[in-house]
Amino acid sequence: MIKPIYFAPLQGYTDDVYRRIHHELVGGIESYFTPFVRMEGGGVRTKDMRDIRPEFNKGVPVVPQVIAKTMKEFTYLTDIVEAKGYKWIDINMGCPFPLQAKHGRGSGLLAHTDIIEEMAKAIDAKKDINFSVKMRLGWESKDEWRPVLDILNGIHLRQITLHPRIGIQQYKGELDMDSFFEFYAGCKHQLVYNGELKTVKEMQLMVERFPGLAGIMVGRGLLARPWLAAEYESGEEWPEEKRRAMLHEFHNRLMAHYETTANSEAQLHGRLRLFWEYMEEELGRKLHKKIMKAGNLKNYLAAVREV
Ligand SMILES: Cc1cc2nc3c(=O)[nH]c(=O)nc-3n(C[C@H](O)[C@H](O)[C@H](O)COP(=O)(O)O)c2cc1C
Repeated sequence: MIKPIYFAPLQGYTDDVYRRIHHELVGGIESYFTPFVRMEGGGVRTKDMRDIRPEFNKGVPVVPQVIAKTMKEFTYLTDIVEAKGYKWIDINMGCPFPLQAKHGRGSGLLAHTDIIEEMAKAIDAKKDINFSVKMRLGWESKDEWRPVLDILNGIHLRQITLHPRIGIQQYKGELDMDSFFEFYAGCKHQLVYNGELKTVKEMQLMVERFPGLAGIMVGRGLLARPWLAAEYESGEEWPEEKRRAMLHEFHNRLMAHYETTANSEAQLHGRLRLFWEYMEEELGRKLHKKIMKAGNLKNYLAAVREV
C-alpha cells in the first residue's frame, strides 16, 4: 500500500531553490510544505516572501505554511498567501523553538484553545481555500491535543499532520506512539504521520501499522537521503552510482543558483554546506567531517569532489 509522501518544512534547508531542484531531479513527493512564514516588525519577513514567490515555485507542488499567535497575525498572513494564488495553506501548531512557542506560536498555541477556536471559525468560513494543520501533542503536556482535536474535528480541513512529541522535547526523545494511536482513532480528518522515518522499511512499517493514514511526512530523512521518497514510490533501491551522480547534480544546481544571490564567498559556502549536514551515513564519517569542517569555499569544493 503506497501512500503519498510529503516533504516536511525545514527552516534554513528546504527553501524554494532546494524544493525546485528536488522536484525536477528526484521527485516522489506529493507536496512540499514551506518553512513557516511569519511576521516581523509589523510585516512579513522579506526572506519568507521570497520563499513563496509563485514565479520561483512554478510547477512545484508547494503548500505555504504560516505561524501565528493571534487572529490578527493569522488573517494578515493567510491573506498574503492567498493573494499569491495559493489554494492550500498549512497552519503551524507544532514549532518547538522556545522563541516562538513561549510567545504562543507553534506548539505554544496548542494550550490557547480560545484563539484556536477563532482561527477554526475563520478557516471554516473560507470555503475556497483548503487549510491543513501541522501539530504536536502539546508544548509541555502530552494531553494538550485533546481539546484542540475536538475543535478541529468540527471544521472543514484538508488534513492534519501529527508529530507525536511535545514541544519541550524539541526534535529528540521518545515518540509517543500510544498518543498517536489515540489521535488516529479520534481524528475525523485525513491524518498524516510525521517523525523519525529514515528508511523505506520504516515508512512501509508505519503504513502497515496505521493503514488509515492519508500519507506520511518526512523531514530529516529526506535531507539525509533525497531519493528516499522516490525509492519508496518505485520500490527500487537507488544504486550508489545513481545516488552519487544525483548528489553532484543537485549540488551543482544549488551552487549555480546561490552564486547569483550570495553576497560573499563565505555566505555561498555557508549555504552550500547545509546540503550535506544530515548525510553522514551516506558519505561516511570521514568524508562528511571533511566537507563540514572545510573552513573555506576552496577546501570545501575539493572535499565535495570526493563524493
Ligand atoms: C532545522 C529544522 C527546521 C524546521 N522548520 C520547520 C518549519 O518551518 N515548520 C514546521 O512545521 N516544522 C519545522 N520543522 C519540523 C519538521 O518539519 C519535522 O516536523 C520534524 O523534523 C520531524 O520530522 P523528521 O523526523 O522526519 O525530521 C523543522 C525541523 C528542523 C530540524
